[in-house]
Amino acid sequence: MLTTVAFTFCISCLVFPLGKMAEVKPTLVCAVVLLSSAVFAFVEDLDETFKDSRMDDVWLVDFYAPWCGYCKKLEPVWQEVGAELKSSGSPVRVGKMDATAFSGISSEFGVRGYPTIKLLKGALTYNYKGPRTKDEIIEFANRVAGPAVRSLPSKQMFEHVMRRHSVLFVYFGGDSPLKEKYAEVASELIVYTHFFAASEDVLPKEVTIPELPAIVVFKDGAYFTYDGEQDSTLSTWVNKERFLGYLQIDGFILYELGETGKLVAMAVVDEKNLTEESIRLKTLIQRVATEYRDHFSRDFQFGHMDGNDYINGLIMGEIAVPSIIILNTSNEQYFLPSEPVETMDQLLHFINSVLDGTAQAQGGDSIFQRVKRVAYDAKSTIMSVFRSSPLLACFLFGLPLGVISLMCYGIYTAETDDSPEDLELLKRDGLTDEEEDDEGQRLPMELEAPGDDEKEEEQEEKSFTDKKVD
Ligand SMILES: *[C@@H]1O[C@H](CO)[C@@H](O)[C@H](O)[C@H]1NC(C)=O
Ligand SMILES: *[C@@H]1O[C@H](CO)[C@@H](O)[C@H](O)[C@H]1NC(C)=O
Repeated sequence: MLTTVAFTFCISCLVFPLGKMAEVKPTLVCAVVLLSSAVFAFVEDLDETFKDSRMDDVWLVDFYAPWCGYCKKLEPVWQEVGAELKSSGSPVRVGKMDATAFSGISSEFGVRGYPTIKLLKGALTYNYKGPRTKDEIIEFANRVAGPAVRSLPSKQMFEHVMRRHSVLFVYFGGDSPLKEKYAEVASELIVYTHFFAASEDVLPKEVTIPELPAIVVFKDGAYFTYDGEQDSTLSTWVNKERFLGYLQIDGFILYELGETGKLVAMAVVDEKNLTEESIRLKTLIQRVATEYRDHFSRDFQFGHMDGNDYINGLIMGEIAVPSIIILNTSNEQYFLPSEPVETMDQLLHFINSVLDGTAQAQGGDSIFQRVKRVAYDAKSTIMSVFRSSPLLACFLFGLPLGVISLMCYGIYTAETDDSPEDLELLKRDGLTDEEEDDEGQRLPMELEAPGDDEKEEEQEEKSFTDKKVD
């Protein structure tokens, strides 16, 4: 799903480190080296033996490649993660493994890119896909390492977790097949969200649950109950409901939204230059998300995105800022309003026209679009290398070009250079004394095939012939 996003993401991953590597300052490298040696003890270097020893503990492992720029960027963060988990008394052990040196075991863990962060808990492995910051990684480790479903024994605990998390799932009721299913889904989706179990006594008065057992998601200042008949499977429902109704969307989140199969309706704005129109579009989308939740939340995810770079890459064009766009994350199609959206009615009309199929879809994943994608990605790769590091770009693209032109030059001169060469031979033998005229003729040749050594040789040659003439 949404392979385009993944692909674009990969391309930028590939290109970005190249550019960044060139910029890394020696001092920074020194600082990192110093820092790593200072806190080194908290991150264990892993090798093949890890396969047998890992079962006894919960492990958080960074699979890296020595040459990868993003891995180098993660390194200091990883050391901090190790130090903090250790000092907080967490049972999670932190390690790192050179996935290129231990490729066998790494591929057994399903490592396909670098860096890959995994939490290994008995037979289960969890991928970390969030932002690579210390706090986010630690939060992930603590959440995933513990029980998938945590119980909320009191009103206070319930209020506490409500304050801490913007989205959370709670199971109410006693033992039941639904509870078993819930535990199963929780242990799979714990990487994304929070699962709790409680008795209905913990609920504030304004929350009423029609029947028990029930699974409820609390978010957006409201709560929604899972309906086994209307909603599809529990895991699909959790996957769809784990996002707030209105989000700030970036490439990462868009990629994750692909798993929900929802259409993504968003305002593309410039957060650094929020014009009146940008604010109006954002507000309209926000209002649709809350006021029309019952109508659209099954099919749509709402939000806004800062800047149009990402979307431009996705649609292989240029989208105006601000504007509104709807993306189909399942087939890479997108929809643009046929006329500017200024009112709620116009926005509702646009959304409905996408739902009922009357809106004109653009893009998609047809063969033509895929060919276009390859060409577009190649072009933007080259452009981004040039932008991030002109020197490197000159080297990368200039070197082959230089070699090719040298080859062309070689072929060209091989075919047409007979006469000057003859002249040279004659001269070398001292059979010509037309020094002045000769110089004039040879000048262009000298320009084309420079080389200080040759010139010196010529100089010597000249003086030699001069002497002879004398
Ligand atoms: C902000 O956006 C408006 C409209 O797109 C543009 O005319 C204006 O120059 C921008 N201002 C800045 C500071 O970029
Ligand atoms: C989105 O794509 C899926 C998969 O191709 C398709 O079934 C669905 O109808 C599309 N939705 C819209 C609104 O075009």
